[in-house]
Amino acid sequence: MIEIKNVFKSFGNNQVLKGVDLTINKGETMVIIGRSGCGKSVLLKLIMGLMKPDSGKILVNGDDITSLNDSQLNKLRQKFGMLFQASALFDSMTVDENVGLGLREHTKLSEEEIKKRVKQKLRLVGLSGVDHLKPAELSGGMKKRVGLARAIAMDPEYVLFDEPTTGLDPIMADVINELIVNLRNALSITSIAVTHDIVSAYKIADRIAMLYDGKIIFVGTPDEVKNTDNPVVRQFIDGSSQGPISAL
Ligand SMILES: Nc1ncnc2c1ncn2[C@@H]1O[C@H](COP(=O)(O)OP(=O)(O)OP(=O)(O)O)[C@@H](O)[C@H]1O
Ligand SMILES: [Mg+2]
Repeated sequence: MIEIKNVFKSFGNNQVLKGVDLTINKGETMVIIGRSGCGKSVLLKLIMGLMKPDSGKILVNGDDITSLNDSQLNKLRQKFGMLFQASALFDSMTVDENVGLGLREHTKLSEEEIKKRVKQKLRLVGLSGVDHLKPAELSGGMKKRVGLARAIAMDPEYVLFDEPTTGLDPIMADVINELIVNLRNALSITSIAVTHDIVSAYKIADRIAMLYDGKIIFVGTPDEVKNTDNPVVRQFIDGSSQGPISAL
């Protein structure tokens, strides 16, 4: 379980997070929605310990990660898989090398065993026969899937998805949505996804949280979101420029 407690984060005068509270339960997929620039990616980086909050606590399985030292943080990160907003694959490496990176760096598994696991994860995301290709030879959707295979390569307890479907055509977006749902069902992975794709949020979320003006202003199931009369949430899901959220 992950508990985010009263987390603040500023960059200079830019107060991005102003007291975020959110609990993500074991085995659930929590989707965080919110406008571009509201701090979704920052929140994911704080959860993984890639940045430190100015104040507040982030508890992972009961341990406050904001007080860990570098070697403890490195250990913690092995519990996490992350699909970055722009897949973040290494261009000079093949698909096989990209997906196997963590296994080669952090485990003592044999090369044969690593190859086997890489193939298994690629199969799970519906890719086979591309092991030897470089990212430049793949389409956007294939890159996302390779990024996803890399995120789950170490059998993480938690997977964080930053905009998993943004920039994909609706059919490929749905393929990725299905994969995320299957991961939860097959591997009981706990996931946090951030997105502004509300269709994707409805499809993959057990619960949806809305980040607005530095705080979580709403948490509910997809049905509760669809039926809410919270004006900020309504404006976001209806995609209107008129309402409490300023268009600028
Ligand atoms: N390393 C950083 N240094 C300074 N400012 C930063 C840094 N990272 C993020 N910010 C600022 O924090 C704010 C939130 O950024 P963030 O990337 O979390 O937005 P987001 O909600 O993920 O947006 P998008 O939906 O466009 O990806 C922005 O104003 C951004 O400029
Ligand atoms: Mg972002």
